[in-house]
Amino acid sequence: PVMNELFGLVELEEKIRQAYGLRKVVIIPGDSESSPEVKRELGRAGARTLLSFVEDGDTIAVTGGSTLAEVAEQMSSLPGGGPLRSTWFVPARGGLGESMEIQANTIASKMAKRVGAEYRLLHVPDLLSEDAYQSLVQDQHIQEIVDVIRRCRVIIHGIGDAMEMARRRKLDEGSIQNLQADGAIAESFGYYFSEEGEVVHKMLTLGLRLEDIMRTETIIGIAGGQGKGKAIHAVLKFGHEDILVTDEAAALELEKEI
Ligand code: G3H
Repeated sequence: PVMNELFGLVELEEKIRQAYGLRKVVIIPGDSESSPEVKRELGRAGARTLLSFVEDGDTIAVTGGSTLAEVAEQMSSLPGGGPLRSTWFVPARGGLGESMEIQANTIASKMAKRVGAEYRLLHVPDLLSEDAYQSLVQDQHIQEIVDVIRRCRVIIHGIGDAMEMARRRKLDEGSIQNLQADGAIAESFGYYFSEEGEVVHKMLTLGLRLEDIMRTETIIGIAGGQGKGKAIHAVLKFGHEDILVTDEAAALELEKEI
C-alpha cells in the first residue's frame, strides 16, 4: 500500500507540473497543517530541493514563515549540505510583521550558518510610512544590500492564505476589508494575489520587487496543508514559479483547481 501511495503521488506531481508549466513538483505524503512530523518532512524536502538547485557562488533570497523556518531547521541534516563558502543567503524583503523566529532575516542567517555560507541582513522596520520608506531607500547601506537581494539567482518562499497572513501581520481592519473586496486569496513575499494570480496589494517595504521575481532564474515555492490549496493555486497562476514543494493534502486541493 505504501508503494501504491507513493506511485500515486508521483502521478499527481506530474499532473500538477504540467497543469502549471512547472519545472519540478515534489509532494510528500500527509498533511503538514495537522501533523508537525509532516511539516518537518516538508521542511526536509524543501531543504533537499533547494540544495539540489544551488551552485556555490549563488545569492539565495528567502522569505519568512513557519515553513521556511522548518526548511532552515532541516538544512544541516542533509548529506552534502555544505560548505557553500561563496554562497550568500539574504532576506527577500524587509520587515513584514512576523515574529522574530520566523522573520526572513532570522531564516537567512540560520540557513547560511547551517551550510557554511555567508549572509547579509536587511534591517527595515515593519509598517513603513511613505516618508520612512523614502528616506530608507536613499540610505547607502540599505541600497547596497537591496542591490545584492535584487540580483539573486534563486528565491525560496512560503505561500499563505491572504486573510490569515493579513491578520498575522496585524493589518488594520480597513486594510483587511479592502483585501477581501479585492479578492485577495494568497500572500507571498508581501504581495497579495487574487484567484487569477493578479497582484491586488503590495506591502510597503524594501527588497525584491515584482519585476525581480519575474526574471529570477529559479523560484521555489514551498507550502503545505489542506487549507492552503487555493492560495497555492493563486500564486501558481501568477505564473513565475519554477518549483513547487508541497504535501499530499494541499496537492489534492490543488488538483481540484486544475
Ligand atoms: O507568505 C506566506 C507565509 O510566509 C507563509 O507562512 O509558512 O507560516 O504558513 P507559513
